[in-house]
Amino acid sequence: MNEEVVRSKLKPTLGLLDATAINIGAIIGAGIFVVTGIVAGLAGPALIISMLIATAISFFTALSFAELAEWLPNEGGVYDFAYQLISPLVGFLAGWMWMLSNTFTGAAVSLGFAYYFTALFPNPYANWIAAFICIAFTALNYFGVRHSATVNNFLVATKLSILAFFFIFGIAFVNVENFTPFAPFRVDVLYGAYYIFFAYSGFARVTVVAEEVKDAKRNVPRAILLSLIISTVIYIIVGIVAVGLVGAPELSNSNSPLTEAISATGSVAAVYIVSAGGLIATATVLLTSILGVSRMAYAMARKKDFPKALSRLHQKYNTPYYSVWIVGIFMALLVLLIDLTRVVAISTSAILFYYTIANISALRLKVQEKLYPKVVPVLGIFTCLALLVLTLFVSPDAGIIGAAGLIAGAIYYFVKKGLARNNLNFALLGIPSVLILHKK
Ligand code: ALA
Repeated sequence: MNEEVVRSKLKPTLGLLDATAINIGAIIGAGIFVVTGIVAGLAGPALIISMLIATAISFFTALSFAELAEWLPNEGGVYDFAYQLISPLVGFLAGWMWMLSNTFTGAAVSLGFAYYFTALFPNPYANWIAAFICIAFTALNYFGVRHSATVNNFLVATKLSILAFFFIFGIAFVNVENFTPFAPFRVDVLYGAYYIFFAYSGFARVTVVAEEVKDAKRNVPRAILLSLIISTVIYIIVGIVAVGLVGAPELSNSNSPLTEAISATGSVAAVYIVSAGGLIATATVLLTSILGVSRMAYAMARKKDFPKALSRLHQKYNTPYYSVWIVGIFMALLVLLIDLTRVVAISTSAILFYYTIANISALRLKVQEKLYPKVVPVLGIFTCLALLVLTLFVSPDAGIIGAAGLIAGAIYYFVKKGLARNNLNFALLGIPSVLILHKK
C-alpha cells in the first residue's frame, strides 16, 4: 500500500500578528526561564550586559534573515537560502545543523519544563518527567496536533502577560544592593552572553512557514524583527527584576530561577503564576521544536537529501511520522543522558553554525536584492563565529559534539550522493571532507 499522501499546498492565511506570534512562540522558553540561572552564575549582577551582547549579535543575524526571507519567502528557511545562494552541500549542512540544534533545543526546554514542574510538585524525577514530556509531545505531533494560529496567539499572549506580571509585581520588591558588585568587564560576562544567546534563537522560525504567511515578502521580515524587539525588551526588564529580587547567587542556585526570584515577594499566588509561565513557555517551544525538526527533515527528504521515508506522510494524520518519532525518541534519550548546561551549549553551537551560513547567504544576495548594507551580514558572520569559537572555552565537550555532528552530516552527504550516482570515488569524498572540516 502506498502510504504517501500528497501534501496539500497550504494557503497563506497568517497575518503579521500571527507570524510574529509564531516567532515569539519559538523564542521565549527555557532561555529566560531557566538559562538565566546559568548566566547569573557566570556574569553575576552584570547579567544584563550578557543579555545586551547577545541582543546585538542576534540583531545582525536577524537582519540577514529578514532580507533572505524577503528574497525567498519559501518553506525550508536557511536550508533553502544556503542551497541556492552558496551550494547544495552547504545548504545540506545548514539544514542538518538546524535539525541538530532544534533537537537539542527540544531537550533543553523539556528539562526546563521538568524543572518548573518539580518546583511546583517537588520530586526527584526531573529527567524522567522531561523524557515523558518529549514522548507526549511527539505523540501530539504524530497525530498532527499543530498549533492553530489562534491557539498559538493565545499561548504567546499568556506567556508575555506572565512575564509582564513578573516585572510589574516584582519591581516593587527589588533590592538595589543586589546589583553590586557590578563587574561587566570580565570574560565570564562574555561566557554568559554565549549561554543567554540560546534565549534569542527562534527568531527565524517563521521562515519555515513562510508560504503560509500573507504578503510574505513584507510580513515575514517584519515578523522576524518585531518578535526579536519584543522578546529583547521582555528579557531585559525581566533580567533586571530577577537579579534585583534575589541577587545573582540565588538565581544561579536554582533550576527554576524566575520562580525563585518571585518567591522573594512572599506571594504564593505569584509563585504559581510564574511557574505556570515556565511550563507554558517551555511547552510551546517544545511543540514547535518537534514540529520544526520533522518539517525540516521532510523538506530535505523532498529534495532527496534524506531517505524518502522521512518525507512519507501518514495516510490519516498527514504528518511526516518517521521524522516525528525519530526526533522525539532522540530528544527523550538526550534528556536522560546529558545535563541542561551541555544541552544548551550544544544547541547554541549548532545555531551559531547555521546563523553564520545564513549571514554568508545574505552576503551573496545581489546588490539590488539587498535591504541593508553589506556590513550587516559581515558583522553577523564575525560575531557568530566569535561566539562559536567561544564554545571551546565555555564547554569544550559541546564543541566536540557539535563538530562531530557536522562531520557526521558531511560524511552522510558524500556517501549518499556517491551511492546515488553509483560513484564510489564520490562516496569516498566523505573521508577528505572529514579531514577538511576537522582542520577548520
Ligand atoms: N529561545 C528558545 C528558548 O529560550 C530556544 O527556549
